[in-house]
Amino acid sequence: LRVLVLAGGLSYERDVSLKSGRRVLDALRSAGIEAEQRDADVSLLPALQSDPPDAVVIALHGATGEDGSLRGVLDLCDVPYVGCDARSARLAWDKPSAKAVLREAGIPTPDWVALPHDRFSELGAVAVLDRIVDRLGLPLMVKPAQGGSGLGAAVVRDAGAVPAAMVGCFAYDSTALVERYVAGMDVAVSVVDLGDGPQALPAVEIVPRNGVYDYAARYTAGLTTWHSPARLEPDVAAEVSRTALAAHTALGLRDLSRVDLIVDHEGRPHVLEVNVSPGMTETSLLPLAVQAAGLDFGKLLATMVARAAT
Ligand code: DAL
Ligand code: MG
Repeated sequence: LRVLVLAGGLSYERDVSLKSGRRVLDALRSAGIEAEQRDADVSLLPALQSDPPDAVVIALHGATGEDGSLRGVLDLCDVPYVGCDARSARLAWDKPSAKAVLREAGIPTPDWVALPHDRFSELGAVAVLDRIVDRLGLPLMVKPAQGGSGLGAAVVRDAGAVPAAMVGCFAYDSTALVERYVAGMDVAVSVVDLGDGPQALPAVEIVPRNGVYDYAARYTAGLTTWHSPARLEPDVAAEVSRTALAAHTALGLRDLSRVDLIVDHEGRPHVLEVNVSPGMTETSLLPLAVQAAGLDFGKLLATMVARAAT
């Protein structure tokens, strides 16, 4: 099998993706798979046509990598890849759309308002913000409707801080997702399919040292502590796993994903988002969960690659 690992790209998460790509490449090679890494740039299409790999592993994050567009190109070239199809990626990538599907499926996700920048300027910031705070209360989470790695995201604890959060968010996307803030434990559940259907790996609990799991906390060694498995009562842990699996399935995902949730103080899980191209860096959660579950990351990827290629 010849596998192509795609990493880099032109999104805000390019650096993260290059690290993910390296880790995936090393893991595949350690499992005896012939793999090479390349960027997703203009040279990709002719390369896929002249020398198609047996399968692709997408280690791209952010737009293109996660929004389904690259998957569409691979479909066009008839090159198989690990992970969900273009349509499901597009759905999961757009947080308001994904949350609507989750809610429809009866999966708890915090109440939200999607606010396009145009509407924000048309109605006036004060009027819009008053309405949002009336509806959702405080604190709020403000994040780009499409984005990742915590870029452009902020917790807003008083109404006066909303405008600055909106500006930070609109730097990354033209639509903001404003969400009710749910206090509790941050957990991530990796879902993997090794051939007998999707299974939830034990939840990983995330404890950022400064209380906020932002870009620095995600990718700087020592800024976040993980508990794997998360410190949850067995019945709560089971409900968290069940909810994560339901979210993966509701969005039509395949092979692997990472479901990010908050477990509130009553032990109820709330799905924040589902990542179709989760980080694979040295400080990322899916490889950590795989290791904690006693699985071998390289063998897991090899299994998925082999399945994609057949
Ligand atoms: N967006 C980053 C890569 C993650 O979800 O891990
Ligand atoms: Mg994400």
